[in-house]
Amino acid sequence: MSVGLPIAGQETCEDPLDLMEEIDRLKKETDTTILAHYYVDGEIQDVADFVGDSLKLARDATTVTTSRILFSGVHFMAETAKMLNPEKTVLIPDLNAGCSLAESCRPEDLKMFQDDLRANGHNFETVAYINTSAAVKSLVDWIVTSGNAREIIDRVPADKEILFVPDQHLGRYLSEVTGRKMILWPGSCMVHEIFSVQDLLRAKRNNPGSEVVAHPECPHSILEHADFIGGTEAIRKHVMAVAEPHTYLVATEANMIHPLEKAAPQHRFVPVPGVMTSTGETCACNRCPHMALNTLQAVRNCLRDGKPEIEWQPFFDKARDVVAKSLLK
Ligand code: 13P
Repeated sequence: MSVGLPIAGQETCEDPLDLMEEIDRLKKETDTTILAHYYVDGEIQDVADFVGDSLKLARDATTVTTSRILFSGVHFMAETAKMLNPEKTVLIPDLNAGCSLAESCRPEDLKMFQDDLRANGHNFETVAYINTSAAVKSLVDWIVTSGNAREIIDRVPADKEILFVPDQHLGRYLSEVTGRKMILWPGSCMVHEIFSVQDLLRAKRNNPGSEVVAHPECPHSILEHADFIGGTEAIRKHVMAVAEPHTYLVATEANMIHPLEKAAPQHRFVPVPGVMTSTGETCACNRCPHMALNTLQAVRNCLRDGKPEIEWQPFFDKARDVVAKSLLK
């Protein structure tokens, strides 16, 4: 019997600290910059050169001076970085790291829906959440993130209707705060859909005096109990601005707790659902399975092997123009 060989489909367990050291070394040897979203594991955030929300990372990608970018996040984020850096090699630790929102809106379905609306006399512009494929981005007028959505919606001429894709919850929230009537695509994020109002109310009861901070991808039934609604960067800034210690119930992907604790260690952060166990711990079942494909091992392998890589597609040119006018201006 062979000893020490990995079982097929199972990776050997490696010390995270060794992996982090190896990643640091490989970054320099391979001329690579690592960008990491707030939703990936804290250890990956700690070895990254840029950490942030979708908007900040898209902008950061345009400032990279190395020849390679490794995007630790999900596919549409790495695709956006590639569009903005056609000449660079853009790597992603796992090509299967998708997004339930992006998958809910296929380009052929969107095209058909837009054609139907036009045929029925609608005069509209299409606003897409950044959580969409490049093929979808090439069919729309504007791209928004949770960080710039209000500004972009203000740029849509007042005489136009807005078709908002693919997140119905974000669209409904934006329609409410901007007063713009929207036609909503029926997509949603599998992580933010999972929160139950019952769990949230129980967490509030278990944490008297706490404040609920929620991502606008949450359904209305959750947002109506939120004290603060904002994207990941807005939530981070919000808690950083409060000096006295506080308890926050965090209704977004649970890895967000890591940057919050780093930015505002005076507070206590409880992921929602935050059911208290008898030992005072909280459960965190709200992890994005796609973001979770970004393991330290996958990041190391990707750096070492120079793959998987985001390949340039013909529709990237059109998509890049929409991304650039929406996110960089
Ligand atoms: P932000 O990065 O805009 O906070 O949105 C979170 C998200 O959905 C990433 O996929």
